[in-house]
Amino acid sequence: MNDSGIAAEWRRRLTAAAGAFVIGVLAPGAAANAVATPGQTPDSVVLAQGLNPHPVTLIFPRVRPLSAMAQLGRKLFQDPRLSGSGQVSCSSCHDPAHGYGPPGAVSVMIGGADMHTAGFRAVPSLRYLYRQPAFSIGPDTSADNEAAPSLVQQAQHALVHDKVLKTALSPQAAATNLVPQGGIFWDGRADTLQQQASGPLLNPAEMAASSSEAVAKKIEQADYAGDFRALFGPNIFENSRMLMAEAMFAVARYQIEEPGFHPFTSKYDAWLQGKARLTAAEARGYLAFDDPARGNCAACHLDKPTRDGLPPLFTDFQYEALGVPRNPAIPANRDPAYYDLGICGPYRTDMRDQVQYCGMFLTPSLRNTATRKSFFHNGAFHTLDAVMDWYVNRDLQPERFYSKDARGNAVKYDDLPAQYRPNVDTTDAPFNRHPGDQPALDKQEIQDVIAFLGTLTDGARSGGH
Ligand code: HEC
Ligand code: HEC
Repeated sequence: MNDSGIAAEWRRRLTAAAGAFVIGVLAPGAAANAVATPGQTPDSVVLAQGLNPHPVTLIFPRVRPLSAMAQLGRKLFQDPRLSGSGQVSCSSCHDPAHGYGPPGAVSVMIGGADMHTAGFRAVPSLRYLYRQPAFSIGPDTSADNEAAPSLVQQAQHALVHDKVLKTALSPQAAATNLVPQGGIFWDGRADTLQQQASGPLLNPAEMAASSSEAVAKKIEQADYAGDFRALFGPNIFENSRMLMAEAMFAVARYQIEEPGFHPFTSKYDAWLQGKARLTAAEARGYLAFDDPARGNCAACHLDKPTRDGLPPLFTDFQYEALGVPRNPAIPANRDPAYYDLGICGPYRTDMRDQVQYCGMFLTPSLRNTATRKSFFHNGAFHTLDAVMDWYVNRDLQPERFYSKDARGNAVKYDDLPAQYRPNVDTTDAPFNRHPGDQPALDKQEIQDVIAFLGTLTDGARSGGH
């Protein structure tokens, strides 16, 4: 679909969406169609004043004192002794002072038993994982289907289904797509926080503990060993596998219960509730973020509350191949044969043969993204300006982002082997552009979107200004 096609489609759906749960959806063109009842201020006017025309009541996670289990989890989360080097804890990479994301600007963190081993991927924030569904292909139906098909069966089934175009106007439609969704890590290889936590502990590039037994020994000598006996019984130290499972459960409880992992104190949260006013730039950025013909960001980074009133997490939990440029700062990339293919490997192995998913990575939440200094799974960009420049000019001026081949031509999507480059998304805006087209966003709109992203940072005073 070309631009005007999308705009027309969008207007059609906007008209059809009467009665559906749509708040604050407005952009040029839409206003013309919105019928304002006499005496009512049209949404566009309210929005132009930075106000939310349809404030909502949001349902936030309940804040309660941490359970004994979660308190134990916090101690484990902060304990560097559990690592092979004795110097790294979960919070070294997932720093509470940086939204549980990386503290610095490096693309990948250094860890390992000798503290010299570089990681392979950028450190994600651990905030807002509390609603992350388990990995599946297509919406998760396992709850109402006892004999759920295997992932490989799901992938085969999905091959014959066309994918719905992702537009910011009706992201609900794309939610039914038979595409990979859910899971944690950039490739979704773990389903739960508990399952996940032993990964970094034993990962040689992260905490590099030599074995579960070694971790168990250290826990037995820790000053919180008594907490383990109190919670799990006096025999807990006799079975190191059981001990590890309980320890990881405690770390997961900490991430679920500690309000710092899902504070919802951003200006945008206040705005959704009608308690804050966006600046002119933020309001323009919000409209561009939402406009299917411009940013179309909300097609994947969902920005509306759910039907049940849960606050938006700025991800649809789905995976996409965006063709982010190869990052020479990752030591593993010195080997030209090494590729990080996301879902199809090398760090998850069950989907190796599903080549249609090679290059796909999880859509991350954009909450607190303005505080990050490394973006995308490989940390290829370090500022939001650089991210936006690439989003808008990826296919218009590829030579500015990608390496060159022997003839001096840009190798588009150079962080994927040639045979997987067709997996890269070239249909959903803003990735549907060709050389010579108008960029999806102009310079002003890019700055506006960046201003809007700034409203997603936690810690703003509620009430706005
Ligand atoms: C040396 C840095 C480092 C340390 C230490 C570390 N992590 Fe991570 N963590 C990462 C990286 C890198 C990723 C992304 C890896 C991937 O996607 O394959 C990650 C991913 C995660 C994720 C998935 C987040 C998401 O959005 O999908 C969770 C949860 C997590 N780590 C928890 C922990 C816990 C709990 C600990 C301590 C037991 C820990 N991490 C220690 C670097 C680290
Ligand atoms: C078709 C789905 C899709 C659309 C549309 C989309 N994104 Fe993304 N976004 C992703 C995926 C997938 C990633 C992760 C890709 C990777 O790391 O390889 C991502 C990553 C990002 C990141 C990096 C976050 C981090 O923690 O590293 C930012 C910032 C971002 N997107 C902003 C935007 C903005 C702004 C727009 C609109 C101009 C937009 N996105 C449109 C899917 C999308």
